[in-house]
Order: sequence, then structure tokens, then C-alpha cells
Amino acid sequence: MIDPLANDLPSTFDDGELYDLMLAGMTYGLDFYLGLAREANGPVLEVACGTGRVLLPCLQAGIDIEGLDLFESMLARLQAKAAALDLSPALHHSDMSDFSLSRRYALITIPFNAFIHNMSQEAQIGCLSCCRSHLNPGGRLVFDTAFPSLEWIGASQNERVLEGEIPHPNTGLPMRMYDTRRFDRVEQIQYSLNELELLAADGSIGKTYRSQSSARYIFKNEMELLLRVAGFQRWEIYGDFDGRPLTNENDAMIVSAWNE
Ligand SMILES: C[S@@+](CC[C@H](N)C(=O)[O-])C[C@H]1O[C@@H](n2cnc3c(N)ncnc32)[C@H](O)[C@@H]1O
Repeated sequence: MIDPLANDLPSTFDDGELYDLMLAGMTYGLDFYLGLAREANGPVLEVACGTGRVLLPCLQAGIDIEGLDLFESMLARLQAKAAALDLSPALHHSDMSDFSLSRRYALITIPFNAFIHNMSQEAQIGCLSCCRSHLNPGGRLVFDTAFPSLEWIGASQNERVLEGEIPHPNTGLPMRMYDTRRFDRVEQIQYSLNELELLAADGSIGKTYRSQSSARYIFKNEMELLLRVAGFQRWEIYGDFDGRPLTNENDAMIVSAWNE
């Protein structure tokens, strides 16, 4: 058993190509963020933009959108994909918890649970404060983040769990994704060993990519406290992208906060 706390594997975000393989066909939140960006009355910033899963469709829709990410491999992959489409977005290489850009935005988004990569309270407050100070008056910060279910908190540790099987985007052969988790309940951190197994035509395992990631999970009341400390005065927290109230059944919080 590989211990996600003790090994020195690369981060899951160190390889943009591999990340795209793992996310092949993933549409989580895409229509929601595209819709928000279309309606924004001014420039848009996507924080933790990754390889452009959301940012590229926004650009293709003619939206004035910029991206920010900490991992160069993600930005390089995004820039290459944009160039292939004859697009050249402004991308910022920066930590979401401490950034300073010259522009102000009508909308800032942090799609696909990226906020949980702020690993300390300082980082969480820094991220929210930076977003607020980069919003136009009346501008809006919107992001989705995990709302830990009882299953999540109660998940077995050090057990290799099959998370899904999807076809390889080029070969059509199966790819299996595994997660081996470990929790630090005091720090509210989940450490994950992520494995992507590529299967050969005869069903044997061709190649296995291993990486690690960590996530600091938070609950609704803590989120509200963070927003308050970061200087926000008005926010709403929903249980889904369609705006339904947050209940025990939801596994994501959709946060919308206004710079008033
Ligand atoms: C789950 S991905 C989401 C990517 C993209 N927003 C999407 O919807 O596909 C999380 C992203 O957070 C980025 N990230 C992790 N820690 C970060 C940090 N401290 N500052 C900025 N970006 C970070 C990773 O590089 C990765 O691109």
C-alpha cells in the first residue's frame, strides 16, 4: 500500500495532459458557468482555470475571460489548446490565495471544487479577499465546492477504491480511476493517492499513472464565516447549480457572493 502522506509522488496537477485524460468528457458545471459568463456585464476571471475545460468554451462564445492557475503544466496545456483554436487568452500564473492583477472583473468564478485546494484558513481567507478586491462594485464571485457527505467523512482509509471507468478519448480502451484516501480530521484534510490505469485490448493493465492531491473540506457555517472575514456582506449558498436550497442530500455548495 502506498501511503499518500509519506510518498513523494507528483501532484495531480503537474501534468496537464494526464489531467485532461482523467477528465475526458467531464461536463460538471459547464453550462452553469458558461451561462453566468455570458450574462456578466464585463470581464470575467476564472480562478484555478486548469486546462480550460470551462475557459475555452467561454472564449469560443466570445466572452472576455482570463484565467489564473498555480500549476504551469495546466496553463501550458490550456495555452496550447487555445492556440490550436486560434485563441490567445490572458493567463496568470499565480496562487489563488495571493494574487494581484491590474484589471477588475464583473464576475470571478472558481469552478469544479478548486477552492478546496486552499489548504489553510489563511489561504482560504486570502483567496476570498483577493477575489473580492478584484471585483467591480456590484461584481460577483461564484464557485462550487464540496459539501462533505456522511459517506465522504466516513469513507474507509487506505483502501483502493475504484472511482470510475471511462473510455480513453483516442483508443476507446477502458481507463480505470482509483482513489486511496487518508483523512486528517483535525485539519479537515483529505489526502488522496490518485491512480489512472490504462487497459490494453486484451484487458491487461498497460500503464498506471500515480499522483497525489489534497483537499481541505469545509461546511456551510464555516464558509459563511470565511466570507464574512474576507469582507463580503451579501452571499447566497445553494445546494445545486439550479439554485435549490442546500440540504443534507447535497454534496456540493454553490456559493454566490457580491462585492457591494
Ligand atoms: C479540479 S481542477 C479545476 C480546473 C478547472 N476550473 C475546471 O473546471 O476544470 C483544480 C485546479 O486548481 C488548480 N490549483 C490548485 N491549487 C491552486 C492554487 N493554490 N492556486 C491556483 N490554482 C490552484 C489546479 O492546478 C487545477 O487546475
